[in-house]
Amino acid sequence: MPVRPDLAQRMARIAPFEVMEVLDAARRLEAAGRDIIHLEVGEPDFPTPEPVIDAARQALATRPMFYTSAVGMPELREAIAGWYAASFGVTVPMERIVVTAGSSAALLMALGALVNPGERVLMSDPGYPCNRNFVRFLDAEPVLVPSGPADGYQLTAALARGAWGVGVRAAIAASPSNPTGTCLDPTEWAALAAVCRARDGVLIADEIYQGLVYDRPPETVLSIADDVWVVNSFSKYFQMTGWRLGWLVVPDGCTREIEKVAQNLYISAPTPAQHAALAALAPEGLAVLEARRAELGARRDVLLAELPKIGFAVRARPQGAFYIYCDVSEFTDDSFRFVEWLLETTGVALTPGRDFGDAAPEQHLRIAYTQPVDRLREAVARIGLALEGLPSRA
Ligand SMILES: Cc1ncc(COP(=O)(O)O)c(C=O)c1O
Repeated sequence: MPVRPDLAQRMARIAPFEVMEVLDAARRLEAAGRDIIHLEVGEPDFPTPEPVIDAARQALATRPMFYTSAVGMPELREAIAGWYAASFGVTVPMERIVVTAGSSAALLMALGALVNPGERVLMSDPGYPCNRNFVRFLDAEPVLVPSGPADGYQLTAALARGAWGVGVRAAIAASPSNPTGTCLDPTEWAALAAVCRARDGVLIADEIYQGLVYDRPPETVLSIADDVWVVNSFSKYFQMTGWRLGWLVVPDGCTREIEKVAQNLYISAPTPAQHAALAALAPEGLAVLEARRAELGARRDVLLAELPKIGFAVRARPQGAFYIYCDVSEFTDDSFRFVEWLLETTGVALTPGRDFGDAAPEQHLRIAYTQPVDRLREAVARIGLALEGLPSRA
Protein backbone atom coordinates (compact mmCIF):
# COMPACT_ATOMS: atom_id res chain seq x y z
CA MET A 1 0.00 0.00 0.00
CA PRO A 2 1.43 3.48 -0.89
CA VAL A 3 2.39 5.55 2.13
CA ARG A 4 1.64 9.28 2.59
CA PRO A 5 4.54 11.27 1.13
CA ASP A 6 5.00 13.24 4.36
CA LEU A 7 5.91 10.07 6.28
CA ALA A 8 9.37 8.54 6.57
CA GLN A 9 10.40 6.29 3.70
CA ARG A 10 10.85 3.34 6.04
CA MET A 11 7.09 3.21 6.57
CA ALA A 12 6.63 1.87 3.05
CA ARG A 13 8.67 -1.20 4.08
CA ILE A 14 6.58 -2.08 7.13
CA ALA A 15 3.88 -4.60 6.26
CA PRO A 16 0.56 -5.02 8.08
CA PHE A 17 -0.69 -8.48 9.13
CA GLU A 18 -2.88 -10.06 6.46
CA VAL A 19 -4.51 -12.12 9.21
CA MET A 20 -6.15 -8.97 10.54
CA GLU A 21 -8.19 -8.81 7.35
CA VAL A 22 -9.31 -12.38 7.97
CA LEU A 23 -10.17 -11.47 11.55
CA ASP A 24 -12.19 -8.43 10.44
CA ALA A 25 -14.09 -10.51 7.88
CA ALA A 26 -14.70 -13.22 10.49
CA ARG A 27 -16.07 -10.66 12.94
CA ARG A 28 -18.38 -9.22 10.26
CA LEU A 29 -19.77 -12.70 9.58
CA GLU A 30 -20.14 -13.30 13.30
CA ALA A 31 -22.04 -10.04 13.72
CA ALA A 32 -24.37 -11.25 10.97
CA GLY A 33 -25.11 -14.37 13.03
CA ARG A 34 -22.68 -16.94 11.52
CA ASP A 35 -20.98 -19.50 13.77
CA ILE A 36 -17.26 -18.81 13.24
CA ILE A 37 -14.50 -21.13 14.43
CA HIS A 38 -11.50 -18.90 15.09
CA LEU A 39 -8.25 -20.70 14.31
CA GLU A 40 -6.46 -17.62 12.99
CA VAL A 41 -5.36 -15.71 16.06
CA GLY A 42 -2.04 -16.46 17.73
CA GLU A 43 -3.14 -16.49 21.33
CA PRO A 44 -4.37 -19.24 23.62
CA ASP A 45 -8.11 -19.39 24.26
CA PHE A 46 -7.58 -20.08 27.98
CA PRO A 47 -8.11 -17.21 30.37
CA THR A 48 -5.18 -16.11 32.50
CA PRO A 49 -4.89 -18.63 35.39
CA GLU A 50 -6.87 -17.70 38.50
CA PRO A 51 -3.84 -17.54 40.87
CA VAL A 52 -2.31 -14.94 38.54
CA ILE A 53 -5.45 -12.82 38.50
CA ASP A 54 -5.73 -13.12 42.30
CA ALA A 55 -2.15 -11.93 42.69
CA ALA A 56 -2.89 -8.93 40.46
CA ARG A 57 -6.02 -8.09 42.50
CA GLN A 58 -4.09 -8.38 45.72
CA ALA A 59 -1.31 -6.16 44.43
CA LEU A 60 -3.74 -3.55 43.11
CA ALA A 61 -5.43 -3.43 46.53
CA THR A 62 -2.29 -3.26 48.63
CA ARG A 63 0.69 -2.02 46.62
CA PRO A 64 1.48 1.32 45.01
CA MET A 65 1.29 1.16 41.22
CA PHE A 66 4.23 3.41 40.43
CA TYR A 67 6.75 2.82 37.67
CA THR A 68 9.19 0.06 38.51
CA SER A 69 12.86 0.02 37.58
CA ALA A 70 13.20 -0.01 33.77
CA VAL A 71 14.73 -3.50 33.99
CA GLY A 72 11.82 -4.79 36.09
CA MET A 73 11.00 -5.46 39.76
CA PRO A 74 13.96 -7.15 41.46
CA GLU A 75 11.72 -9.86 42.92
CA LEU A 76 10.42 -10.76 39.45
CA ARG A 77 13.89 -10.86 37.93
CA GLU A 78 14.95 -13.07 40.81
CA ALA A 79 11.90 -15.31 40.32
CA ILE A 80 12.71 -15.71 36.61
CA ALA A 81 16.31 -16.62 37.53
CA GLY A 82 14.93 -19.15 40.03
CA TRP A 83 12.62 -20.58 37.38
CA TYR A 84 15.56 -21.13 35.00
CA ALA A 85 17.40 -22.94 37.79
CA ALA A 86 14.40 -25.07 38.80
CA SER A 87 13.12 -25.88 35.30
CA PHE A 88 16.35 -26.26 33.34
CA GLY A 89 19.10 -26.52 35.95
CA VAL A 90 20.78 -23.49 34.41
CA THR A 91 22.22 -20.53 36.30
CA VAL A 92 21.13 -17.23 34.84
CA PRO A 93 22.10 -14.35 37.14
CA MET A 94 19.17 -11.98 37.66
CA GLU A 95 21.48 -9.13 36.59
CA ARG A 96 21.28 -10.49 33.04
CA ILE A 97 17.46 -10.58 33.02
CA VAL A 98 15.48 -7.55 31.85
CA VAL A 99 11.69 -7.61 32.28
CA THR A 100 10.09 -6.04 29.20
CA ALA A 101 6.74 -4.85 27.85
CA GLY A 102 6.01 -8.15 26.09
CA SER A 103 8.66 -10.00 24.17
CA SER A 104 7.88 -7.59 21.33
CA ALA A 105 9.76 -4.88 23.25
CA ALA A 106 12.52 -7.37 24.02
CA LEU A 107 12.95 -8.19 20.31
CA LEU A 108 12.95 -4.54 19.27
CA MET A 109 15.42 -3.53 21.96
CA ALA A 110 17.74 -6.46 21.28
CA LEU A 111 17.79 -5.67 17.56
CA GLY A 112 18.14 -1.94 18.25
CA ALA A 113 21.08 -2.56 20.56
CA LEU A 114 22.84 -4.89 18.12
CA VAL A 115 22.15 -3.87 14.54
CA ASN A 116 23.37 -0.75 12.73
CA PRO A 117 21.45 0.84 9.84
CA GLY A 118 22.15 -1.04 6.63
CA GLU A 119 23.30 -4.22 8.41
CA ARG A 120 21.55 -7.51 7.76
CA VAL A 121 19.74 -10.00 9.96
CA LEU A 122 19.12 -13.63 8.99
CA MET A 123 15.79 -15.27 9.79
CA SER A 124 13.92 -18.30 8.54
CA ASP A 125 11.20 -18.04 5.92
CA PRO A 126 8.51 -18.94 6.93
CA GLY A 127 8.90 -17.08 10.21
CA TYR A 128 7.38 -14.63 12.66
CA PRO A 129 6.42 -11.56 10.57
CA CYS A 130 7.32 -8.89 13.14
CA ASN A 131 11.02 -9.76 13.05
CA ARG A 132 11.49 -8.51 9.50
CA ASN A 133 9.43 -5.41 10.24
CA PHE A 134 11.46 -4.62 13.39
CA VAL A 135 14.64 -4.88 11.33
CA ARG A 136 13.23 -2.58 8.65
CA PHE A 137 12.11 -0.12 11.32
CA LEU A 138 15.77 0.14 12.32
CA ASP A 139 16.74 0.86 8.70
CA ALA A 140 18.47 -2.50 8.54
CA GLU A 141 17.83 -5.39 6.13
CA PRO A 142 16.05 -8.64 6.94
CA VAL A 143 17.43 -11.61 5.02
CA LEU A 144 14.65 -14.17 4.69
CA VAL A 145 16.29 -17.58 4.39
CA PRO A 146 13.93 -20.09 2.73
CA SER A 147 13.63 -23.15 4.92
CA GLY A 148 11.55 -26.19 4.13
CA PRO A 149 10.41 -29.41 5.73
CA ALA A 150 13.92 -30.92 5.43
CA ASP A 151 15.24 -28.13 7.70
CA GLY A 152 12.21 -28.39 9.99
CA TYR A 153 11.29 -24.93 8.62
CA GLN A 154 14.09 -23.59 10.83
CA LEU A 155 17.17 -21.46 10.32
CA THR A 156 19.61 -24.35 10.70
CA ALA A 157 23.35 -23.84 11.09
CA ALA A 158 23.83 -25.05 7.51
CA LEU A 159 21.31 -22.55 6.15
CA ALA A 160 22.81 -19.72 8.20
CA ARG A 161 26.30 -20.58 6.97
CA GLY A 162 25.09 -20.54 3.37
CA ALA A 163 23.23 -17.25 3.73
CA TRP A 164 25.87 -15.39 5.74
CA GLY A 165 27.39 -12.64 3.64
CA VAL A 166 28.74 -9.13 3.82
CA GLY A 167 26.95 -6.96 6.35
CA VAL A 168 25.22 -9.76 8.24
CA ARG A 169 25.23 -8.86 11.90
CA ALA A 170 22.80 -11.26 13.55
CA ALA A 171 20.52 -14.24 13.14
CA ILE A 172 17.13 -14.81 14.78
CA ALA A 173 15.60 -18.22 15.37
CA ALA A 174 12.52 -19.26 17.32
CA SER A 175 11.99 -22.65 18.95
CA PRO A 176 9.20 -23.71 18.90
CA SER A 177 8.49 -21.60 15.86
CA ASN A 178 5.59 -19.51 14.70
CA PRO A 179 4.06 -20.50 12.22
CA THR A 180 5.33 -24.10 12.08
CA GLY A 181 5.58 -25.25 15.71
CA THR A 182 8.90 -26.93 14.89
CA CYS A 183 11.87 -26.89 17.26
CA LEU A 184 15.64 -26.63 17.10
CA ASP A 185 17.43 -29.38 19.05
CA PRO A 186 20.14 -28.36 21.54
CA THR A 187 22.79 -29.62 19.12
CA GLU A 188 21.31 -27.48 16.32
CA TRP A 189 21.16 -24.45 18.62
CA ALA A 190 24.80 -25.04 19.54
CA ALA A 191 25.79 -25.30 15.87
CA LEU A 192 23.84 -22.15 14.96
CA ALA A 193 25.41 -20.23 17.85
CA ALA A 194 28.82 -21.41 16.67
CA VAL A 195 28.15 -20.18 13.10
CA CYS A 196 27.22 -16.73 14.45
CA ARG A 197 30.17 -16.60 16.85
CA ALA A 198 32.67 -17.60 14.16
CA ARG A 199 31.50 -14.68 12.03
CA ASP A 200 31.47 -12.12 14.85
CA GLY A 201 27.70 -12.12 14.64
CA VAL A 202 25.07 -12.48 17.32
CA LEU A 203 22.32 -15.05 17.78
CA ILE A 204 18.92 -13.93 19.05
CA ALA A 205 16.87 -16.87 20.33
CA ASP A 206 13.12 -16.45 20.60
CA GLU A 207 11.90 -18.88 23.26
CA ILE A 208 8.44 -17.44 23.77
CA TYR A 209 6.74 -20.80 23.09
CA GLN A 210 9.27 -22.61 25.25
CA GLY A 211 6.89 -24.20 27.77
CA LEU A 212 4.53 -25.35 25.01
CA VAL A 213 6.18 -28.52 23.76
CA TYR A 214 4.49 -31.90 23.55
CA ASP A 215 7.00 -34.58 22.54
CA ARG A 216 9.96 -33.53 24.64
CA PRO A 217 10.81 -31.59 27.78
CA PRO A 218 11.15 -27.81 27.37
CA GLU A 219 14.68 -26.63 26.66
CA THR A 220 16.58 -23.38 26.69
CA VAL A 221 19.53 -22.35 24.57
CA LEU A 222 20.95 -20.83 27.76
CA SER A 223 22.00 -24.31 28.88
CA ILE A 224 24.42 -24.49 25.97
CA ALA A 225 25.53 -20.88 25.40
CA ASP A 226 25.59 -17.67 27.38
CA ASP A 227 26.48 -15.27 24.58
CA VAL A 228 23.03 -15.65 22.98
CA TRP A 229 20.36 -12.96 23.43
CA VAL A 230 17.26 -14.80 24.61
CA VAL A 231 13.73 -13.46 24.29
CA ASN A 232 10.88 -14.89 26.35
CA SER A 233 7.37 -13.92 27.36
CA PHE A 234 4.50 -14.36 29.77
CA SER A 235 2.14 -14.29 26.78
CA LYS A 236 1.92 -17.84 25.51
CA TYR A 237 2.81 -20.63 27.99
CA PHE A 238 1.79 -18.35 30.87
CA GLN A 239 -1.32 -17.21 28.97
CA MET A 240 -1.00 -13.53 29.76
CA THR A 241 -1.04 -12.01 26.26
CA GLY A 242 -2.89 -8.83 27.18
CA TRP A 243 -0.77 -8.15 30.25
CA ARG A 244 2.13 -7.21 27.99
CA LEU A 245 4.99 -8.79 29.84
CA GLY A 246 8.09 -10.56 28.61
CA TRP A 247 11.78 -10.67 29.31
CA LEU A 248 15.18 -10.58 27.69
CA VAL A 249 18.30 -12.39 28.85
CA VAL A 250 21.39 -10.54 27.69
CA PRO A 251 25.05 -11.55 27.77
CA ASP A 252 27.17 -10.27 30.63
CA GLY A 253 27.72 -6.54 30.58
CA CYS A 254 24.80 -5.61 28.28
CA THR A 255 22.01 -4.97 30.84
CA ARG A 256 22.82 -1.30 31.30
CA GLU A 257 22.53 -0.68 27.54
CA ILE A 258 19.09 -2.27 27.39
CA GLU A 259 18.07 -0.43 30.55
CA LYS A 260 18.82 2.89 28.78
CA VAL A 261 16.63 1.92 25.84
CA ALA A 262 13.77 0.66 28.04
CA GLN A 263 13.86 3.86 30.11
CA ASN A 264 13.43 5.89 26.96
CA LEU A 265 10.98 3.65 25.10
CA TYR A 266 8.40 2.87 27.79
CA ILE A 267 9.97 3.67 31.22
CA SER A 268 8.99 0.32 32.72
CA ALA A 269 6.87 -2.75 31.99
CA PRO A 270 3.32 -2.64 33.45
CA THR A 271 3.52 -2.78 37.26
CA PRO A 272 0.28 -4.78 37.90
CA ALA A 273 1.43 -7.37 35.36
CA GLN A 274 4.79 -7.74 37.07
CA HIS A 275 3.12 -8.49 40.40
CA ALA A 276 0.78 -10.96 38.69
CA ALA A 277 3.65 -12.72 36.93
CA LEU A 278 5.20 -13.65 40.27
CA ALA A 279 2.20 -15.95 40.79
CA ALA A 280 2.56 -17.41 37.28
CA LEU A 281 6.01 -18.68 38.27
CA ALA A 282 4.82 -20.12 41.61
CA PRO A 283 3.86 -23.83 41.90
CA GLU A 284 0.09 -23.20 41.95
CA GLY A 285 0.22 -21.17 38.71
CA LEU A 286 2.53 -23.68 37.03
CA ALA A 287 0.17 -26.56 37.88
CA VAL A 288 -2.67 -24.87 35.97
CA LEU A 289 -0.38 -24.23 33.02
CA GLU A 290 0.87 -27.81 32.85
CA ALA A 291 -2.72 -29.10 32.67
CA ARG A 292 -3.37 -26.71 29.79
CA ARG A 293 -0.22 -27.80 28.04
CA ALA A 294 -1.54 -31.37 28.09
CA GLU A 295 -4.82 -30.13 26.60
CA LEU A 296 -2.97 -28.29 23.81
CA GLY A 297 -0.94 -31.41 23.08
CA ALA A 298 -4.13 -33.45 22.75
CA ARG A 299 -5.54 -30.85 20.33
CA ARG A 300 -2.42 -31.04 18.21
CA ASP A 301 -2.65 -34.81 18.05
CA VAL A 302 -6.28 -34.68 16.91
CA LEU A 303 -5.41 -32.28 14.10
CA LEU A 304 -2.33 -34.24 13.06
CA ALA A 305 -4.56 -37.29 12.69
CA GLU A 306 -7.43 -35.48 10.94
CA LEU A 307 -5.81 -32.95 8.60
CA PRO A 308 -4.21 -35.41 6.15
CA LYS A 309 -7.66 -36.97 5.64
CA ILE A 310 -8.89 -33.71 4.07
CA GLY A 311 -5.76 -33.17 1.99
CA PHE A 312 -4.02 -30.62 4.25
CA ALA A 313 -0.44 -31.88 4.24
CA VAL A 314 1.75 -31.34 7.31
CA ARG A 315 5.31 -31.63 6.00
CA ALA A 316 7.24 -31.29 9.28
CA ARG A 317 5.91 -32.48 12.62
CA PRO A 318 5.01 -29.53 14.84
CA GLN A 319 6.46 -30.24 18.28
CA GLY A 320 5.25 -27.17 20.07
CA ALA A 321 3.56 -23.75 20.17
CA PHE A 322 -0.09 -24.08 19.05
CA TYR A 323 0.33 -23.89 15.29
CA ILE A 324 0.24 -26.30 12.40
CA TYR A 325 1.60 -25.11 9.06
CA CYS A 326 -0.23 -26.86 6.25
CA ASP A 327 0.69 -27.33 2.63
CA VAL A 328 -2.55 -26.74 0.73
CA SER A 329 -1.01 -26.70 -2.75
CA GLU A 330 -3.41 -29.46 -3.73
CA PHE A 331 -6.18 -26.86 -3.61
CA THR A 332 -4.74 -23.42 -4.33
CA ASP A 333 -1.90 -21.18 -5.42
CA ASP A 334 -3.43 -18.17 -3.67
CA SER A 335 -3.65 -18.95 0.02
CA PHE A 336 -5.21 -15.58 0.83
CA ARG A 337 -8.16 -16.15 -1.48
CA PHE A 338 -8.37 -19.76 -0.34
CA VAL A 339 -8.60 -18.64 3.30
CA GLU A 340 -11.23 -16.05 2.35
CA TRP A 341 -13.21 -18.71 0.50
CA LEU A 342 -12.95 -21.14 3.41
CA LEU A 343 -14.15 -18.47 5.81
CA GLU A 344 -17.16 -17.62 3.70
CA THR A 345 -18.02 -21.22 2.86
CA THR A 346 -17.32 -22.93 6.16
CA GLY A 347 -17.06 -20.23 8.84
CA VAL A 348 -13.55 -21.45 9.74
CA ALA A 349 -10.98 -18.65 10.04
CA LEU A 350 -7.33 -19.50 9.23
CA THR A 351 -4.15 -17.50 8.53
CA PRO A 352 -2.79 -17.35 4.97
CA GLY A 353 0.86 -18.21 4.44
CA ARG A 354 1.62 -14.76 3.03
CA ASP A 355 2.00 -13.33 6.55
CA PHE A 356 5.03 -15.51 7.19
CA GLY A 357 7.36 -14.77 4.30
CA ASP A 358 8.10 -15.34 0.65
CA ALA A 359 8.85 -19.09 0.58
CA ALA A 360 5.79 -20.62 -1.10
CA PRO A 361 3.39 -18.57 1.03
CA GLU A 362 0.57 -19.04 -1.47
CA GLN A 363 0.66 -22.79 -0.95
CA HIS A 364 0.47 -22.69 2.84
CA LEU A 365 -1.75 -21.66 5.67
CA ARG A 366 -1.46 -21.71 9.45
CA ILE A 367 -3.94 -23.28 11.82
CA ALA A 368 -3.84 -22.13 15.45
CA TYR A 369 -5.35 -24.82 17.66
CA THR A 370 -6.80 -22.35 20.06
CA GLN A 371 -10.22 -23.99 20.32
CA PRO A 372 -11.39 -27.11 22.19
CA VAL A 373 -11.13 -30.50 20.50
CA ASP A 374 -14.83 -30.69 19.55
CA ARG A 375 -14.57 -27.35 17.73
CA LEU A 376 -11.39 -28.48 15.97
CA ARG A 377 -13.11 -31.64 14.78
CA GLU A 378 -16.06 -29.55 13.62
CA ALA A 379 -13.71 -27.20 11.74
CA VAL A 380 -12.01 -30.09 9.94
CA ALA A 381 -15.38 -31.65 9.08
CA ARG A 382 -16.69 -28.37 7.63
CA ILE A 383 -13.53 -27.82 5.58
CA GLY A 384 -13.53 -31.42 4.38
CA LEU A 385 -17.09 -31.08 3.17
CA ALA A 386 -16.37 -27.83 1.33
CA LEU A 387 -13.27 -29.30 -0.33
CA GLU A 388 -15.21 -32.28 -1.61
CA GLY A 389 -16.92 -29.87 -3.99
CA LEU A 390 -13.60 -28.56 -5.36
CA PRO A 391 -11.91 -30.01 -8.43
CA SER A 392 -8.55 -31.32 -7.10
CA ARG A 393 -5.40 -29.72 -8.55
CA ALA A 394 -3.25 -32.76 -7.78
C1 LIG B 1 7.53 -16.00 17.61
C2 LIG B 1 6.94 -14.85 18.37
N1 LIG B 1 7.76 -13.99 19.00
C3 LIG B 1 7.29 -12.93 19.68
C4 LIG B 1 5.93 -12.68 19.77
C5 LIG B 1 5.46 -11.48 20.55
O1 LIG B 1 4.71 -11.80 21.69
P1 LIG B 1 4.52 -10.89 22.96
O2 LIG B 1 4.92 -9.50 22.63
O3 LIG B 1 3.09 -11.01 23.32
O4 LIG B 1 5.42 -11.47 24.04
C6 LIG B 1 5.02 -13.55 19.13
C7 LIG B 1 3.57 -13.29 19.18
O5 LIG B 1 2.75 -13.97 18.57
C8 LIG B 1 5.54 -14.66 18.42
O6 LIG B 1 4.75 -15.55 17.80
